[in-house]
Amino acid sequence: MELVFATNNAHKIKEIRDLLDQDFRILGLAEVNINEDIPEEAETLEGNALFKARFVYERTGMNVFADDTGLEVDALGGAPGVYSARYAGEGKSFDDNIVKLLGEMKNADNRAARFRTVIALILDGSEYLFEGSVEGVILRERKGIGGFGYDPVFKSLNDERTFAEMPLSEKNKISHRALATKKLLAFLADNAVEK
Ligand code: IMP
Repeated sequence: MELVFATNNAHKIKEIRDLLDQDFRILGLAEVNINEDIPEEAETLEGNALFKARFVYERTGMNVFADDTGLEVDALGGAPGVYSARYAGEGKSFDDNIVKLLGEMKNADNRAARFRTVIALILDGSEYLFEGSVEGVILRERKGIGGFGYDPVFKSLNDERTFAEMPLSEKNKISHRALATKKLLAFLADNAVEK
C-alpha cells in the first residue's frame, strides 16, 4: 500500500522506511508533487499534524500521515510546545532556542519537561491520532554534541545522559517520535488492507 508522509525531511522518511515492511511504500511530499511548505499555524501539536495530513489528503486523495513535535516545560506552562522550532524567533538556530530556554528557566527549580510527538493518520478517509512522549528534565547547561534541537539540555528520567550524549541509533529507539511511530505501525499492521 502507498502512504504519503507529509514531510520534506529526508531523514524522517528514511527512518520510517527502515521500520516499515515491504507491504508499505512511503512517499514524501515531493513524490506527490507538493512542493510548497505546508503552514504550521495551529495552537496544538494535534492541530498541526491534522492540518498537514488533511492538506495532502485534500489534494491527492491518498492515505497520509503527518507528525508534529514539541518540548513542553512545566515551569513555563507548557512552552515552547507547539512553537518549539521557532521559540527564539523565525529563522533562529537550535542554539538560539536553547539560549532562550535556559534564560527563561534561570530561576526555575522545577525542571520537569517532556518531548511529545503527535502523528495524524488519514486512512481511507478516517482520521486517527497517535502520541509518544518522553518525560525528563531540562539541565542548567548543555551536555553532549549529538542529536539536534533541544537534545543537549534534555535528560530523560530513565537515563543519566542527555539525548545529545546518546548515539543517534539509541535515541531513535526510545524517543518520543519512536514511541508515536511504533503505535502508528502497530495500527497499520492491524488495519491497513492491501490495495
Ligand atoms: P518537528 O515537529 O519534528 O519539526 O519538531 C519541531 C521542533 O521541536 C524542532 O525544530 C526541534 O526544535 C524540536 N524537536 C523535535 N524533536 C526533537 C528531538 O528529538 N530532540 C530535540 N528537539 C526536538
